[in-house]
Amino acid sequence: MGLRNYWIKDPNLSDSGFKKIKWAEREMPVLKMIMERFSKEKPLKNVRVGACLHITKETALLVKTLREGGAEVYLCASNPLSTQDDVAAALVEDGFHVFGWRGMNQKEYYECIGYVLSSRPNITIDDGADLVTSIHKIYYKISSNEVAYILNIIGELGEELVKNIMGGSEETTTGVYRLRSLSSQGKLLYPIIAVNDASSKSLFDNPVGTGQSALDGVIRATNTLIAGKDVIVVGFGRVGSGIAYRARGLGARVTVVEVDPINALRAAMDGFRVESMSSASKHGDIFITATGNINVIRREHFQAMKDGVILANAGHFDVEICKRDLEELSVKIEKITDCITTYVMKDGRRLHLLGDGRLVNLACAEGHPSAVMDMSFSLQALSAEYIVKNYKNLPRDVISVPREIDLTVARLKLISMGLELEEMTEEQKRYLESWHLGT
Ligand code: NAD
Ligand code: ADE
Repeated sequence: MGLRNYWIKDPNLSDSGFKKIKWAEREMPVLKMIMERFSKEKPLKNVRVGACLHITKETALLVKTLREGGAEVYLCASNPLSTQDDVAAALVEDGFHVFGWRGMNQKEYYECIGYVLSSRPNITIDDGADLVTSIHKIYYKISSNEVAYILNIIGELGEELVKNIMGGSEETTTGVYRLRSLSSQGKLLYPIIAVNDASSKSLFDNPVGTGQSALDGVIRATNTLIAGKDVIVVGFGRVGSGIAYRARGLGARVTVVEVDPINALRAAMDGFRVESMSSASKHGDIFITATGNINVIRREHFQAMKDGVILANAGHFDVEICKRDLEELSVKIEKITDCITTYVMKDGRRLHLLGDGRLVNLACAEGHPSAVMDMSFSLQALSAEYIVKNYKNLPRDVISVPREIDLTVARLKLISMGLELEEMTEEQKRYLESWHLGT
């Protein structure tokens, strides 16, 4: 197969894509400020960025910012069901190299990663670490179907890839887990900034962004009434807690399932019922997973569920709700809409899975609101600049977003919201630094 400049669903969809990108711009003032500075200073001049992100209107503004900074950007989808095809078309018309469409299969997904890697990126930006783990599998010669699909595209490039890379960044919790696993085995090949873990990301994007957009996904897919429903949230971490609060805000009775005693206790003291998965599966109407873990809802839980339950996942991969068990237990599988698959059990119960068990906020809605992505993607843009300036001195490890960048993004966001920060007086600063003033 010859190399492609882009691979998307339909270039003719661009009009609607341009309008959506313009709409997102209104809510992304911090990224806009960074774009204006990048346009003058060109901190990413001659840098090739390979990005594996959800292809949305917000991502469009990130890649435009990187290009204003001087970068050449190659973008592929970070999930087979999250691409907004009209946005992809607008980006292609605007001259970007974009690879991905809604509904791609596994082979196509990895071929698209191959096209991004064929650009020999200097910086990688990931959401879930599929780009980075692909590079590592190729380097360490770990064979799999996925690697074979990529090698079909990039040919002999293989190990050469790593030589060009200055550093990378990672957008989500699951991606950071995977990077830490590589790092703990001493295998991480270049420095990667854990954007996910910055305060101005994980305190807002994960709970506030996913909290709202996961429920948006459930509602858009089903138009079900949340009020009065028995909602089971599995995982009460950053994402799950956001979903639980918002489901309660809409009038649901919310139960939390947790394995971590501290997070379970937080949920309990915030007034949620805390139960095991086996107890919760008997009474829930709507189940939403947000654990980053595998098979948290499985055979024995499906067997106990009521007729008509709705199953949705907000975690990164489609592994949290065990689809294989669902299939094996079913006598019939019906596609009700693009977003609802109904599994009919032997005893006639019908369990409805949303978005094929992929992240419901992106598969069945539009992902996080732009105003939240403003912070996450401002961190991404500033992290790319930081890598270019500092890569020679960075360790081959998972590194934190520098505190100054984190605070800058928070400050700019506050300013853009017309909010004022209080300033400490000199006396207050001295007081906090001293130890001899007491009772
Ligand atoms: P987190 O580590 O803060 O929370 C995960 C929670 O799940 C933890 O409290 C953990 O104890 C719990 N957990 C793990 N296994 C469990 C099990 N078997 N049963 C019950 N609870 C269990 O992580 P997070 O930042 O909340 O991210 C969760 C997932 O959401 C990750 O996969 C992340 O990548 C993804 N994510 C998705 C979006 C989105 O747009 N959909 C946005 C951000 C993060
Ligand atoms: N992750 C969650 N929401 C997103 C969005 N709107 N754009 C890109 N990535 C996202």
